[in-house]
Amino acid sequence: MVSIAQGWSGAGHPFRFGVGCRKLGRHISMTTPPALPTAGGCWNHDHVPSLVVPVVAPGQLSGTSQPTLQTGSILLRPWTAKDARAVVAAYQEPEIQRWHARSMTLTEAEQWIVDAGIAWAQESGVSWAVDLEGQLAGRMTLKFYLADAGAGVGYWTRQAARGQGVASQALLVATQWAFDHGIHRVQLEHSTQNPASCRVAAKARFAGEGIRRSAALHADGWHDMHLHGRVNKMQAELESERSPVTTAPGAD
Ligand SMILES: CC(C)(COP(=O)(O)OP(=O)(O)OC[C@H]1O[C@@H](n2cnc3c(N)ncnc32)[C@H](O)[C@@H]1OP(=O)(O)O)[C@@H](O)C(=O)NCCC(=O)NCCS
Repeated sequence: MVSIAQGWSGAGHPFRFGVGCRKLGRHISMTTPPALPTAGGCWNHDHVPSLVVPVVAPGQLSGTSQPTLQTGSILLRPWTAKDARAVVAAYQEPEIQRWHARSMTLTEAEQWIVDAGIAWAQESGVSWAVDLEGQLAGRMTLKFYLADAGAGVGYWTRQAARGQGVASQALLVATQWAFDHGIHRVQLEHSTQNPASCRVAAKARFAGEGIRRSAALHADGWHDMHLHGRVNKMQAELESERSPVTTAPGAD
């Protein structure tokens, strides 16, 4: 059972990774695939109105406080300054360092938490602290690509809490929340050398969509990345009911 309550929303910088081809780079979380080119392609069209009506209207998400989500004894809640030391400890764990390719000082962790609050306020993403029975067990982040009503996922679970369904349950709840709020597609990717993350994706019903060869640079070199996605079923059903596109006689 999933329940949703309203929670804290903070302030600070936006997440460092951005949307659009020109901003792709090393700041992107290991499980957050780069934004795919939108209908407008790679060129920056920030000052040219789009012909596409947005599915998620600007302000629709940030107009409320960041929600808190619960499933069983797992709680997804906004980060608070009190989490900073636990975040530092998490990023000292070898597996988290390996797959997220960074470590953090206390000051950096405090800023990271502030950035999460601002990401919500700016509708560039949402990041939850994941508690298991009252202890910080992990992180679940959705980076929004609202031009395409899309989101990319990042997650980790602290070593002591692994193997108890924390990441997969949190991913299921976060994805359902995203679909309930107009997100059409949620995607994630992991190194092909990270089978535990692949299992998390499968348990959360993310279909495998192929391998992006040599797509991510980790500390030990280039990794092939396995892409997974889920599409909001209701939205997909609506689309399948649309009239099929036909080609006019004589057209190529
Ligand atoms: C990957 C990670 C998030 C999983 O978190 P978790 O809370 O333990 O995940 P869950 O308990 O929901 O599921 C883990 C599944 O992976 C399986 N698993 C664990 N290690 C595995 C391995 N080496 N090979 C294959 N499967 C593995 C578990 O058995 C479990 O599957 P099961 O329930 O069918 O037995 C966690 O290990 C982690 O944080 N790793 C380091 C950071 C990371 O990899 N982040 C993701 C980057 S893409």
